[in-house]
Amino acid sequence: MTQIALITGANKGIGYATARLLGELGMTVLLGARDETRGVAATKELSGAGLDARFVALDVTDAASVTAAADLVTAEFGRLDILVNNAGILRVDGPAGAPSATTLPTLREVFETNVYGVVTVTNAFLPLLRQAPAARIVNVSSEVGSISSLTDPASPLFALTSVPYPASKAALNMITAMYAKELRDTPIKVNAANPGYTATDFNSHHGFRTPEQAARVCAHLATLPADGPSGLLWGHLITIEGDQNGVLAW
Ligand SMILES: NC(=O)c1ccc[n+]([C@@H]2O[C@H](COP(=O)([O-])OP(=O)(O)OC[C@H]3O[C@@H](n4cnc5c(N)ncnc54)[C@H](OP(=O)(O)O)[C@@H]3O)[C@@H](O)[C@H]2O)c1
Repeated sequence: MTQIALITGANKGIGYATARLLGELGMTVLLGARDETRGVAATKELSGAGLDARFVALDVTDAASVTAAADLVTAEFGRLDILVNNAGILRVDGPAGAPSATTLPTLREVFETNVYGVVTVTNAFLPLLRQAPAARIVNVSSEVGSISSLTDPASPLFALTSVPYPASKAALNMITAMYAKELRDTPIKVNAANPGYTATDFNSHHGFRTPEQAARVCAHLATLPADGPSGLLWGHLITIEGDQNGVLAW
């Protein structure tokens, strides 16, 4: 049975690379994108490479759009094997992002996409994920959401001070743990991915990892075997030389 995978924010960056990788594994990949032109263009690239790729209109901050996407997947496939909650945004208040410079509009904007969007999409698609034999949910998070890392003076991330984005990913980590707990007696596994600092539009391509390396983290969690873990933050280990992945502290 061909697996069906939905990736949010799949028109570029890590989401697109994840869609490509899962497509190359033989899955039907549904590229969620909020902009039809960008979504269709990305889908055509993957279809042109011989993958079974379909565009799904999906703005994670728009409840009607999420419902319409879930209805479409219900009508077309009746189940969903893999959900990759990838769509995310980064905003910083002020030049240095000091906590005291945080504004509520920025905080709300970031949480709308990175936190509320994930809950909206997950809840809309959970009935379809329950229809799959062993669904996987991957929440694309970050080590920047690890309170342990950001408060450890020995961590390379200690210098970060901004509130909205790190707080949104810390919330996403907790959301991951809570869904994993609710679903622990089902075959569904829920994990948070740390793709590592990746060169995408997100950071004006300053990241030192490629989208393909980041996508491998997401694909690993999307294809965990039945005895694989649930409720972890897993992915790139910044303190270890090279392309090494493992479990990170929350
Ligand atoms: N790059 C890194 O170093 C890094 C590190 C750790 C974690 N991450 C996480 O990885 C994920 C992907 O980031 P990226 O680096 O690939 O960034 P990116 O290149 O900026 O891509 C972000 C994607 O999310 C989409 N998106 C944003 N808001 C959306 C919404 N409301 N509804 C649907 N799609 C929306 C964007 O669509 P548009 O094209 O329409 O804007 C785009 O497709 C994010 O969750 C990010 O937090 C990235």
